[in-house]
Amino acid sequence: MNSTAIRNRLVEFGESKNRTENFLSAPQDSRRLSLKGCSAVNLSFRERKANGEKFAMLTAYDYPMARLLDESGVDLVLVGDSLGMVVLGYPDTTSVTLEHMIHHCRAVVRGVKSAFVVADLPIGSVDTPELAVQNAMRLHEAGAHGVKLEGGVSRCREIAAIVEAGIPVMGHIGMLPQQVRVEGGYKIKGKTPTEAGQLCADAVAVEKAGAFAVVMELVRPEVASKITTAITIPTIGIGSGPDCDGQVLVIHDLVGLFPWFTPKFATPRAQVAGSIREAVQTFVQDTKVAGGLTMEQNILTQPPGANPTPISPSEPNPATLQKPQSSLPADAPAARAASAASFLQSTRTYPTKFHDQSLALEKSLMPGCGSLERKNNQSLCCGNLNSVQGQIEPEAPGC
Ligand code: KIV
Repeated sequence: MNSTAIRNRLVEFGESKNRTENFLSAPQDSRRLSLKGCSAVNLSFRERKANGEKFAMLTAYDYPMARLLDESGVDLVLVGDSLGMVVLGYPDTTSVTLEHMIHHCRAVVRGVKSAFVVADLPIGSVDTPELAVQNAMRLHEAGAHGVKLEGGVSRCREIAAIVEAGIPVMGHIGMLPQQVRVEGGYKIKGKTPTEAGQLCADAVAVEKAGAFAVVMELVRPEVASKITTAITIPTIGIGSGPDCDGQVLVIHDLVGLFPWFTPKFATPRAQVAGSIREAVQTFVQDTKVAGGLTMEQNILTQPPGANPTPISPSEPNPATLQKPQSSLPADAPAARAASAASFLQSTRTYPTKFHDQSLALEKSLMPGCGSLERKNNQSLCCGNLNSVQGQIEPEAPGC
């Protein structure tokens, strides 16, 4: 299909108008520029492969994970449709929608400074070249640098159309998770000469269509190795042996964050689920058994001299609430009384929703208060203990 035909068909689409129409109405020069950008990506990945570079790719679905991966030096971050399983709790990737992908892609992009972000085109989103371009543009608009789509020979028209629209494409051949229901399971590919031949044809088709790299999933290692030598774009393997140009894993499998299932080819390098369980069990213990959280665990403190940022102009900042006992030397009664007074001052006006401790606990933490009451959802010290004279002062107004 030539670019005029793609252009005409695209105009028919109502969705994703901005990005699509921007592209379509852009002067030919800038369209060529975006194509140039795409070619530059392709060239750079080919060159890096030719120089013997290896590529580390991991999945991320949200901001903190994306940021951690980026800060740890991954080359590529994949917003994979595996999010359907490890984030959304579906049994496979076939329930994932483009809207899911866009939502998570935006979060990931916010966390990445250096890595190349690739977002998966989910099932049903690339059934025709036009649809593929339209949906790839939406992911690109959400911040993805490139998109990935499943299929080799059968999807080369869609790959070519997306590349022609200026968006870098990563192919995905071998076991195709979006076909898991059709195939009846996650089966290793390339076991017979016929299958191996098909895989080679898929890899070459993806390369010729203009993809900058190709994922090979569950491909027999010797076949993956041959394909890696035969094509000029990087192969990124998952469960396909050590000879690919790079490796990709679902982050949950690498860090032990989905303990209910780990694929055989993945070796967890951490036990994050175990650490989370431990931390949560300790919290439950502290809350239920040990009689409540300690002051240190439950209240914001601010280093001396720090300038707290108010939460809003009308609400005092909880960071100004001082720990009267631990922040002062034991032999400083005047200073202690002053600190307690400022603590109480904050407490008097501060809504209790931010420190919902029992009155008794609050009082035990306010050495300057002789009598503490709850009024209008606020803690009021109705009688300050004058630490110098050791007497309870007259009640505050409102008590
Ligand atoms: O969705 C995904 O996470 C993937 C990887 C397994 C390659 O496609």
